[in-house]
Amino acid sequence: MTKQDRCYLLEIQHLAVSFENENGRFRVVDDIDLSLESGKILGLVGESGSGKSVTALAIMRLLPKPWARIDTGAIRFDGEDIVQLPVDAVRRLRGDRIAMIFQEPMTALNPVHRVGRQIAEVFVLHGIESDPERIRQRSRQMLSRVGIADPEQCLMSYPHQISGGMRQRVMIAMALCGNPELLIADEPTTALDVTVQAQLLELIRELQQEIGMSVMWITHDLGLVARLCDEVAVMYAGKIVEQAKVQMMFSNPLHPYTQGLLRSVPRLEGEPKSRMYSIEGTVPSFQAIPSGCRFHDRCPKAMPVCSSISPGQTSMEERKVWCHLYG
Ligand SMILES: Nc1ncnc2c1ncn2[C@@H]1O[C@H](COP(=O)(O)OP(=O)(O)OP(=O)(O)O)[C@@H](O)[C@H]1O
Ligand SMILES: [Mg+2]
Repeated sequence: MTKQDRCYLLEIQHLAVSFENENGRFRVVDDIDLSLESGKILGLVGESGSGKSVTALAIMRLLPKPWARIDTGAIRFDGEDIVQLPVDAVRRLRGDRIAMIFQEPMTALNPVHRVGRQIAEVFVLHGIESDPERIRQRSRQMLSRVGIADPEQCLMSYPHQISGGMRQRVMIAMALCGNPELLIADEPTTALDVTVQAQLLELIRELQQEIGMSVMWITHDLGLVARLCDEVAVMYAGKIVEQAKVQMMFSNPLHPYTQGLLRSVPRLEGEPKSRMYSIEGTVPSFQAIPSGCRFHDRCPKAMPVCSSISPGQTSMEERKVWCHLYG
């Protein structure tokens, strides 16, 4: 399939986001491009602080005010630029067509209302259902689908009365009740134990195939990306360095950072005494971003040009990479 034939639901172009603090203004997401095809799951990976959550919040137009700001770029959703939309249109988009599961479920649930009321609000707010009995029935159905054994009991509970795993399931149920076209999931399973994680991933896959939604899945877990995602984009210090189909990325990563990341994944089938590879050095702070390619001082393949010029995008067979090796 050529690029022209692909149907993108979400296309981010040249997006830059900055934060202001007492030391000045810092670009935490700098000129990134990212695309998500309709009905596909895109994994967004990268070390802590690389800008994954900020990117998600920019798409939702939920960046913390007044410190954060979108400096430049476009976030096209179904052809419309979210950055340019008036606030009321953004609000309609959120929940109706785009839903997000946050990194910390407790902050997204209201502690003073029962779970049942909060789910009902989603149905009412998005004009999906207004009859209280039907809402109750659909809420129970949704909670069973996300694997809650006693939905009735859960609907009656306050958020602090249920476990972290259950809260996360409730959040996922709430995000899915509006049948969103795009689901953004920001590390939704890291706090859960492995079996619960596996169940939830299975569920997301099922629902994704059933209702054809697209998913952006933010995670540190490359194993999870390999199992769940169709494509993967890798972020490093506020930049996307590579985006490709999952199989391509895992079998033949192009960017030296991606190569390092993949080598640092422990392998079950590896030699018993092989040491886990880790990339030397640490992610630069946003207050001291190196010039040129942000990875150059940790890169084993760095060339003189890498320290002075930021690499542009190179597109090749359904993948994109930002690295001078391929320029
Ligand atoms: N509320 C905030 N105020 C100031 N700076 C922030 C804020 N949130 C994020 N940042 C800055 O943006 C950078 C990117 O943060 P972000 O939360 O997007 O990282 P992340 O990739 O989601 O990391 P993690 O994997 O730990 O969730 C941070 O390093 C930080 O410098
Ligand atoms: Mg994050």
